[in-house]
Amino acid sequence: MANTLLIYGSLTGNTEGVAYKIQELLRSKSKEIDVKNAIDADLSDLTGSYSGFIFGCSTWDDGLPASDFNDFIERINTAKPNLAGKKIAIFGLGDSNYVHFCGATTIMEKTFVTEMNGAKIIETLHIDGYPDMEENQAIIKNWVEKLAELID
Ligand SMILES: Cc1cc2nc3c(=O)[nH]c(=O)nc-3n(C[C@H](O)[C@H](O)[C@H](O)COP(=O)(O)O)c2cc1C
Repeated sequence: MANTLLIYGSLTGNTEGVAYKIQELLRSKSKEIDVKNAIDADLSDLTGSYSGFIFGCSTWDDGLPASDFNDFIERINTAKPNLAGKKIAIFGLGDSNYVHFCGATTIMEKTFVTEMNGAKIIETLHIDGYPDMEENQAIIKNWVEKLAELID
């Protein structure tokens, strides 16, 4: 089993594509991660044996996480699992033409780092516009290169 679980929320597939790209890039660095759609994620994913988590989500509706990810947060929020000692990395997709650019990343940081005590190990990645753009592919690759050194 992998040591790190990536949970993503994606409405039109952009974040999903980035999630699997991150898995592919990490694999090329000999780091294996599991990937899960937030629709299928629940409390037991966070309280199991993973030593780290990567959370990724796009922003919709004036700064909110994609609805599937929002529902996941609601499912775990009553239990508020303690993520102390767990390594946390966060990425978000959005569009800087919106007022609340990548607002979902602020909510993910509040939820998993501030409220659940997870240890943020890397600066949060913000992807502006289509992830397939050359510039964004380079940003993702750079981030993953750093991340590979930090996760188990
Ligand atoms: C109706 C609508 C609302 C959006 N609202 C925001 C927003 O408030 N902030 C932001 O950064 N991006 C916003 N976006 C951009 C999306 O987050 C972006 O297209 C993202 O790549 C979608 O990823 P997904 O396919 O993984 O859901 C919005 C897009 C649409 C179509």
